[in-house]
Amino acid sequence: MRGKLCFRRAFVLAPTLLRGDAEKHHYSKHHYSKHQHGNRLELTPMAKKQPPLIKIRNLSFSRGEKVIFDGIDVDIPHGKITAIMGPSGSGKTTLLKLISGQLMPQSGTVEVDGELIHELGTRQLYRLRMRMGMLFQSGALLTDLSVYDNVAYPLIEHTRLPRSMIRKLVLMKLEAVGLRGAHDLMPSELSGGMARRVALARAIALDPMMILYDEPFSGQDPISMGVLVSLIRRLNDAARMTSVIVSHDVHETASIADLIYVISEGRVIEHGTPEALMNSNKPWTRQFMLAQADGPVPFHHPAPSLEADFLGES
Ligand SMILES: Nc1ncnc2c1ncn2[C@@H]1O[C@H](COP(=O)(O)OP(=O)(O)OP(=O)(O)O)[C@@H](O)[C@H]1O
Ligand SMILES: [Mg+2]
Repeated sequence: MRGKLCFRRAFVLAPTLLRGDAEKHHYSKHHYSKHQHGNRLELTPMAKKQPPLIKIRNLSFSRGEKVIFDGIDVDIPHGKITAIMGPSGSGKTTLLKLISGQLMPQSGTVEVDGELIHELGTRQLYRLRMRMGMLFQSGALLTDLSVYDNVAYPLIEHTRLPRSMIRKLVLMKLEAVGLRGAHDLMPSELSGGMARRVALARAIALDPMMILYDEPFSGQDPISMGVLVSLIRRLNDAARMTSVIVSHDVHETASIADLIYVISEGRVIEHGTPEALMNSNKPWTRQFMLAQADGPVPFHHPAPSLEADFLGES
């Protein structure tokens, strides 16, 4: 039954996704605000009425002595792209693991689509996870399987669709990321950017309600980054999906996010639209958003004076 639903929905979505190619210019930086005030306005009245898809309240999480979250609140709205940004080690990947139920809060709550993650049994959690597409930081493809088989894998695992339908769905997902022609290749024959797009096709194979992206732009050349930026925006808008992007690539993330949370040292420093954060009156946020090397976060790690180190004084 679920398989049938997936299949029907995918066909409904396909033309919109494919049409996106002709609309690429909408997603460039210069056209972004026009798009923002154009298409996305349609979504706003509904999004306002709906409670957030993900609601995090007073969440605390530590690893050993290290406090990673110290009572944070985060709301992820339906149908939007929300970015979680912060320096390396600030807990971005950990937050995605808490949202997807791979880790449990030590106190506070994570609620996804009305369900409290820590109250779910194994089967319920599994079912909820099937509705989340994940593109993890180290989310490598299965190296022994072809591109086609990598994308087919979740469909074979989780649905009872006949092979002929799976074939159509796989080709459609690959078409959506521009790689239908690469379906016979093995992962070792792909560039880093292509591999990430195949992983994205695999993440959307089951038509999830949301996608969690962990550092989707890292290690990509500027062209691949541009392709990924427009792909993420297009998938989000055409499929009415909710996207959560974790990243420290400020420029790319700010160019597509509707809402950004900046986290550091266990707390939410600030949240708002990219424009609001760029013009924040908090020096820390500005230093981060404008990628300045020095500011409230000093360039130098705390150290004794140079003389003391060079002359061996204590
Ligand atoms: N499995 C683990 N065991 C112990 N500590 C961990 C583990 N995973 C992460 N940490 C620690 O938790 C903190 C947050 O890690 P996390 O990976 O969430 O950071 P991040 O913001 O995603 O960093 P990056 O931008 O480098 O990916 C770090 O101090 C890290 O060392
Ligand atoms: Mg990380």
